[in-house]
Amino acid sequence: MGRYQEIYERSLNDPEGFWGEAAEALVWESRWDKVLDREAKPVPRWFTGAMFNTCFNALDRHVNEGRGDQDALIYDSPVTDTKRRYSYRQLRDEVARFAGVLRNLGVQKGDRVIIYMPMVPEAAIAMLACARLGAIHSVVFGGFAANELATRIDDAEPRVIVSASCGIEPSRIVEYKPLLDQAIEMAGHKPEQCVILQRPQAAAARIEGRDRDWAEEMATAEPVECVPVLATDPLYILYTSGTTGQPKGVVRDNGGHAVAMHWSMKNIYNVEAGDVYWAASDVGWVVGHSYIVYGPLLAGCTTVMYEGKPVGTPDPGAFWRVISEYGVKVLFTAPTAFRAIKKEDPEGKYLAQYDLSCMQALFLAGERCDPDTLNWAQEKLGKPVIDHWWQTETGWAIAANPLGIEPLPVKPGSPTVPMPGYDVRILDEEGKELPAGEMGNIVIKLPLPPACLPTLWNNDRRFIDSYLSKYPGYYLTGDAGYKDEDGYLWIMSRTDDVINVAGHRLSTGAMEEVLASHPDVAECAVIGVADELKGQLPLGLVVCKAGAEKEGEVLYSELVALVREKIGPVAAFKQVVAVKRLPKTRSGKILRGTMVKIADGVEWKMPATIDDPAILDEIAEALRSLGYARRQ
Ligand code: COA
Ligand code: AMP
Repeated sequence: MGRYQEIYERSLNDPEGFWGEAAEALVWESRWDKVLDREAKPVPRWFTGAMFNTCFNALDRHVNEGRGDQDALIYDSPVTDTKRRYSYRQLRDEVARFAGVLRNLGVQKGDRVIIYMPMVPEAAIAMLACARLGAIHSVVFGGFAANELATRIDDAEPRVIVSASCGIEPSRIVEYKPLLDQAIEMAGHKPEQCVILQRPQAAAARIEGRDRDWAEEMATAEPVECVPVLATDPLYILYTSGTTGQPKGVVRDNGGHAVAMHWSMKNIYNVEAGDVYWAASDVGWVVGHSYIVYGPLLAGCTTVMYEGKPVGTPDPGAFWRVISEYGVKVLFTAPTAFRAIKKEDPEGKYLAQYDLSCMQALFLAGERCDPDTLNWAQEKLGKPVIDHWWQTETGWAIAANPLGIEPLPVKPGSPTVPMPGYDVRILDEEGKELPAGEMGNIVIKLPLPPACLPTLWNNDRRFIDSYLSKYPGYYLTGDAGYKDEDGYLWIMSRTDDVINVAGHRLSTGAMEEVLASHPDVAECAVIGVADELKGQLPLGLVVCKAGAEKEGEVLYSELVALVREKIGPVAAFKQVVAVKRLPKTRSGKILRGTMVKIADGVEWKMPATIDDPAILDEIAEALRSLGYARRQ
């Protein structure tokens, strides 16, 4: 039996022993009563009774252990032409002081703080400052519109919001403050205070009595010490797309999260204290939480915070420049970033200009990695390229190739094997386990390993309904796929209305709600169609009301603008077409899956339950007008 197999089996047979040992690498204020409380509801909980502070383990511990002068965070921002380094000591001091700012504003253990910020070090400082106080942060991605922010404000009910005057996209300056003001205006819940980081690229107007200036507050605040919390207390809430327009507030705890993060750095990514690790993502996504902020810092690595794109800032050599400049050992990004680089530099000419000898491996996640992209990256880099599969809900990889345990053979298209603690099964609709090679619902047998969500914020019911009810005793991932004869997992598609656009998880249901709100739209469907660069793109099909005022291009551009205004530019919703009717089953369910297949030009079967098969010809024609449904 290989080392991976031995470790994996132990993690399932003796989870208490396995994770209890892993937990010894961290500093606990007081130890746990149980490593795993199997009786806890709605799911078993890790390290119950223990007191812990995540910020202490991510910063103070390293300073105390002699890493104070090592770089903790390197900020590299080609869009503002800025580079800045923070040692562990400096980062701890900044965080302790910002925790003082928050405390002065009344933030206490258990209070929520929303962080709506671009990729600046202050975003990580604000997150860690919340962790220091035992407050719960909720970071909202900058590409979301005011309406999405308002929904999160109403659900998380923050005492304080931390934001910045602007973010920077290559094509424009995105002013955050008007979006923030609008969101607070729309929300029922009103935060008491906002702290605004003024950036030189745009100045934000202050609302007297409510808005504070980051720099002014920092100048007078006193640093504060870490506040121990229960290991099971929430560290953060991160909203993610579900089936409806109401996002799901994924809750992460403190103790189990830190244990899994720390374990994953060595065992999956094969990095150790002192190594430079770079996740080219955004703090607004789970990858940013786990592998820009918490994972690398808990492990004593140097993390890179990059405010730029893979291409155009200034060229497709941007990633290679950062890797060689800082000695990055592991890069983690989404396949879409590599597709963007490959498109602009297919020969790898930019890549050849840099010394990448420091780099050990490339990890990809966030969407299905097509074998072409994986092979291209592997050939051009000459390094292992590891696809790994996970979700906001789990916080770390469900399946990966554990480079730090033993590198397993790569099969392009598969994220390799389940990680410790994840008992992954493939079930049919009736809950029967399927043999190797047969595709079904991918589920994880409870208990979930540490770091996975214990519930949704203030909503045990939705947590149970969304993830636990379909197959009692199992967590439903929402992905479909199969295991092969070697136990490798193959993740093929979502089973719900979630799509993945440029590695960003989006809900087609949410977009449908926006389209349906237009006075001229009677009915609509949004589907995710295949796209060479972004993996998937949303496409809207609308049925207009009789006597609709607007139609054709005028209506389409209004609908595109409406989705941008309500959900945000990140939805990348730019394609819409009117149809006379939508294809439905006899019970009235819209046949979105069949439309996706027609659009993508792949083989499809006439659904037995279809109400009127002739509608599909009309749909194919409409899709052809947008350049889809070409190959049959
Ligand atoms: N704030 C404001 N707007 C944002 C934003 C942010 N943080 N992030 C993206 N947007 C905007 C973009 O400017 C774009 O606007 P546009 O419609 O005016 O062009 C829109 O949202 C869509 O963004 P995106 O889908 O990211 O497309 P892009 O053309 O800007 O970039 C890639 C394409 C492939 C370069 C980019 O998606 C990328 O780097 N992806 C890496 C993957 C990644 O980080 N995934 C996260 C999980 S690992
Ligand atoms: P998110 O919660 O944004 O991380 O998105 C999670 C979803 O992205 C998963 O449920 C999958 O559908 C998809 N996903 C993430 N990583 C992979 C991968 N390596 N292969 C296939 N799909 C992936």
